[in-house]
Amino acid sequence: MPYKIIRYICLKYLHKGGYSVEHVDQVCLSLRKEYGKCVKMAGLLGRPDMLFIFDAGEVERVFRGEDGAPHRPSMPSLNYYKHTLRKNFFGEEKDCAGVIAVHGDSWAAFRTKVSRVALSTGAAAQYTEQVGDVADAFINRVREIRNSKSETPDDFLNEVHKWSLESLGLIALDTRLGCFESCEGSESQRLIDAVNTFFLCVGELELRTPWWRIYPTAMFKKYVAALDTILSVTLSHVERALQECKDNSSKSLLQDLVTAAGPRVAAVAALDMFLVGIDTTSNAVASTLYQLSKRPEVQEKLYKEITGVLQGRPLKAGDVSQMPYLKACIKEVLRMYPVVIGNGRQLTKDTVICGYNIPKGTQVIFQHYVMGNSDEYFSNASEFRPERWLNRSTYKHHPFASLPFGFGKRMCLGRRFAELEMHIIICKMVNAFRMEYHHEPLEYHVHPMYTPNGPIRIKLIDR
Ligand code: HEM
Repeated sequence: MPYKIIRYICLKYLHKGGYSVEHVDQVCLSLRKEYGKCVKMAGLLGRPDMLFIFDAGEVERVFRGEDGAPHRPSMPSLNYYKHTLRKNFFGEEKDCAGVIAVHGDSWAAFRTKVSRVALSTGAAAQYTEQVGDVADAFINRVREIRNSKSETPDDFLNEVHKWSLESLGLIALDTRLGCFESCEGSESQRLIDAVNTFFLCVGELELRTPWWRIYPTAMFKKYVAALDTILSVTLSHVERALQECKDNSSKSLLQDLVTAAGPRVAAVAALDMFLVGIDTTSNAVASTLYQLSKRPEVQEKLYKEITGVLQGRPLKAGDVSQMPYLKACIKEVLRMYPVVIGNGRQLTKDTVICGYNIPKGTQVIFQHYVMGNSDEYFSNASEFRPERWLNRSTYKHHPFASLPFGFGKRMCLGRRFAELEMHIIICKMVNAFRMEYHHEPLEYHVHPMYTPNGPIRIKLIDR
């Protein structure tokens, strides 16, 4: 069948429905309802046409049919930074531009070098105690900043960002950045500020009209300066790791990468991890804490599981594998509220989707938020039931409907680290506090992660 426009919808749809970019979740739900399982979005100002897929079976077929170098449509602003503005740095060594905003053979060569180290067994588990120390520091910090009602302050999400940055600094740079007590002018503070600026700018640059393509807007200049800072701080830490590699035999992810693939690969891998590994994890944790704070019965079940495993001693590597309910709670949050609401591919070959011939080069977006919340794929989808991940014969679901970390060769490179960080912080928070929520329910919005919109004021009662 020749390719044809399945449904034609233009940007006016967003306005007609009274929606803004922040409410793309609602737009996608409406599109599914109104137009079916395969919808073409066209006429987006400054953006290519896109095909939205709401069918888990079709998602599975596209993923399983991928070739050796799947192409994920990337952030155009980062693409421009790596391949135009700073092409001297990222293009200087062969296959050394990283994985984010990089495609084809160059992506495959870089990914192979980093995957071997980052996804190896034990790569994440070796950080259990150190990541646990960061979680303890976070808990001390929230104890201090609770208000007179024992509630977390309005800028709680910012505190969770600090925790996430501190944890990733440890994993990617072997460094305690000191995010909870940072001092003006220090290198750590420069990195923290740069990462914050990057996040503030990236959503605006990617989700709104891309004027920066025509001229360097003030926001674009700030964005580039932030990326330059992240890169230069990262490089300086890699030099230190290189030195320490020679001095001692203890190994870390950074040192393993330096040894296996060289300092340039290690620095660029760390940069990529900083770009996509902080906001994702912090929003997932904030969302999980918020959801748990509304469900005392889930917390009690979790608390029982955690105390049963720990028996009063500190957490050590391997403990989380005995906490299936903890893992299930996080999976359930990411099913209902995936921080990345839709993943995508630019097709590298002509592909039949929902019976249509879709040509190579088309951008397809897998609508995991919509599929994850659909009764078609999860029984009683609107109910928060971690048990569905434990008892698969009672709760049937399609394995490709909820894929919070993506799938296949291009799957999240930091998944093991993200899971380690999330399991540890949630485990320690539930062990330390009973969490309650006494305010109006928060709606979620795309910002650019899918996250509760508004102050997350959780009452923390010491256990
Ligand atoms: C809850 C936390 C996180 C979520 C939900 C998440 C989700 C994702 C998703 C959906 C993708 C795209 C996968 C695909 O195209 O199939 C991705 C890619 C990636 N993620 Fe994560 N991520 C998280 C945390 C992290 C962390 C902590 C790191 C770094 C330590 C990280 C590093 C990466 C990298 C480097 C890629 C690009 C992989 C490539 O293109 O080859 N992520 N992530």
